[in-house]
Amino acid sequence: MHKIDPSEITPEHVYLSRRKFLKGMGALAAGAVLLSACDGEAPPSTPASVMAPPTDELTPYESINAYNNYYEFSLGKEAVARLSQGFKTDPWTVEVEGLVAKPKTFDLDALGQFAATERIYRMRCVEAWSMVIPWFGFPLAALLKEVEPTSEAQYVRFETVYAPEQMPGQESTRFSWPYIEGLRLDEAMHDLTILATGIYGKPLLPQTGAPIRLVVPWKYGFKGIKSIVKIDLVADMPTSFWMAQAPNEYGFFANVNPNVPHPRWSQSSERRIGENSRRRTLLFNGYEAEVAQLYEGMDLTKWF
Ligand code: MTE
Repeated sequence: MHKIDPSEITPEHVYLSRRKFLKGMGALAAGAVLLSACDGEAPPSTPASVMAPPTDELTPYESINAYNNYYEFSLGKEAVARLSQGFKTDPWTVEVEGLVAKPKTFDLDALGQFAATERIYRMRCVEAWSMVIPWFGFPLAALLKEVEPTSEAQYVRFETVYAPEQMPGQESTRFSWPYIEGLRLDEAMHDLTILATGIYGKPLLPQTGAPIRLVVPWKYGFKGIKSIVKIDLVADMPTSFWMAQAPNEYGFFANVNPNVPHPRWSQSSERRIGENSRRRTLLFNGYEAEVAQLYEGMDLTKWF
């Protein structure tokens, strides 16, 4: 494990651009540096606000890929990696429709057109564990702007692929598949909200949501829906997978809040994967300065 220091980030700061991002991902880390250099684009500097504080250590690549929540494969965190091996992520399309002027289906090439950057974010699971992950991805806003949401669009609804022949967990009738998540449109348009396609300069593996997943760092990890195939702009607040499953435990907003306990887990502290001691959980997972204004006037002491 190594410490994050802004001066140290640059060498591994691979700005992936353009189509090869998702395709031909074998030699991605090296290839991607070349690609962005060939583009002649100056790498944008990552604002300090999108990085974890320098004292936070990056969670090792192996741990990020060995300890997963992905109920479509298993309820066992350590079984997901094995059971998801070979999950087919190419070809892949993401259909974007609903209250938009220009509905569009993005294939992997089209998704690779969005300029991706590295974003080092804390991820805080509602089960009170956390990681620090160097994602690669691009702002969801960039994709939404392309489809031109109409003035009636208030929320964004996301859907994971439904493929029970490949996802053994989807055969269970205990849950209502597919996995659904949602954001308010202003949350979706916020610069911290990304669609991630890689980690540590390598493409996402099936267990972390390949080929494309949502990352909203100020919200509990379950908002980060994996393996997205559909994005809908809608007028009404969508019901998420977890809201449908346990409405007394999960709400729509799910902003990290140490002052509001979940019925099963206190949210005041967390265990950073790879560390022994617990650390205090931060309001909005430490992104308060960036996002608090989205919730002005809302009662943050209410669960979610
Ligand atoms: N997305 C889908 N489709 N299915 C899931 O079970 N689990 C969520 C979220 N996205 C989940 C999902 C939960 S509870 C968490 S904490 C994060 O993914 C975990 O992401 P990770 O496995 O990459 O750490």
